[in-house]
Amino acid sequence: MKQKILVTREVFDDVLDYLEGYFKVDSNQSDNLLDAETLAARLADKAGAMTTIADRIDSKLLRQCPDLKAICNIAVGFNNIDLAACTSTGVMATNTPGVLDDSTADFTWALILATARRVTESERYLRAGQWQGWKLKQFLGTDVHHATLGILGMGRVGQKVARRALGFDMKVIYHNSRRLPQEIEHDAGNATCVSLDELLSRSDILTVHTPYSQATHHLIGAAEFAKMKPGAIFIHASRGGVVDDAALVAALQSGKLAGAGLDVYEGEPNLNPGFLTLDQVVLTPHIASSSEATRHNMAMLAAKNLVAALTTGNPPNLLNPEVRGA
Ligand code: GLV
Repeated sequence: MKQKILVTREVFDDVLDYLEGYFKVDSNQSDNLLDAETLAARLADKAGAMTTIADRIDSKLLRQCPDLKAICNIAVGFNNIDLAACTSTGVMATNTPGVLDDSTADFTWALILATARRVTESERYLRAGQWQGWKLKQFLGTDVHHATLGILGMGRVGQKVARRALGFDMKVIYHNSRRLPQEIEHDAGNATCVSLDELLSRSDILTVHTPYSQATHHLIGAAEFAKMKPGAIFIHASRGGVVDDAALVAALQSGKLAGAGLDVYEGEPNLNPGFLTLDQVVLTPHIASSSEATRHNMAMLAAKNLVAALTTGNPPNLLNPEVRGA
């Protein structure tokens, strides 16, 4: 008899077809977020699930799902999953690393360029019929070329962002939990490792690529914004909560920062209303990895993790290998 699984949100048809080859699939193709109670009810008799970052997988939920053996997130980030609770209930958890690095780095550059050169702000002005003609001092922005790019978090995505900076003749500096080997620094735009304070004080453009955890909660807040270069540009496309959004709004309102490009927010899909009042902020709805090819690859990788988890017990992207001894 086929094992039962739940797909919590809409995925591509061929991904569902692939899963149906192995499992009896209950899928929420209507794509509305399942509340905690509904998620628990639909997961109660399932052996596995494909989840998204909006699905909260915590100990309360896991206790209600005795047959559950695998949670496969369609994301590289997994702060929606309580890994310790998964391990203690014998549930394998997986993510989708690697397949989204280039798309996320491309999008980070879209935010950098749009923010520094005021693309969305000037488009809004034009669309509103306000443009009266060319003016020398119209929408003066910040040059990206030859500027210093600071990268906080030099993992897979940070390194890809850094490589792309070479084309803009930028100086790349980074701060990371550990210094990278020299050959990786070389490939990553000849990046130089610096302290957090130096990163903050030297970056003309600072971009954050740090996963969210208790340790990175509000890693960047009022004290850090105060140390940044006046007129710097701030970019964030990693995870809401790494940045104190209220402090970012204040740094923008005071004019300390020239602008910000943001794809992620504390408490999303809600966002600090202050952002909406600021023209110098580019706001996108958590779409950095959202190219057709990449979102498809993420969903298929999650599906392959689920098949491997429930057929061999050995998914390629297992986040809690200690579950094997649990
Ligand atoms: C998206 O935010 C992801 O973590 O993949």
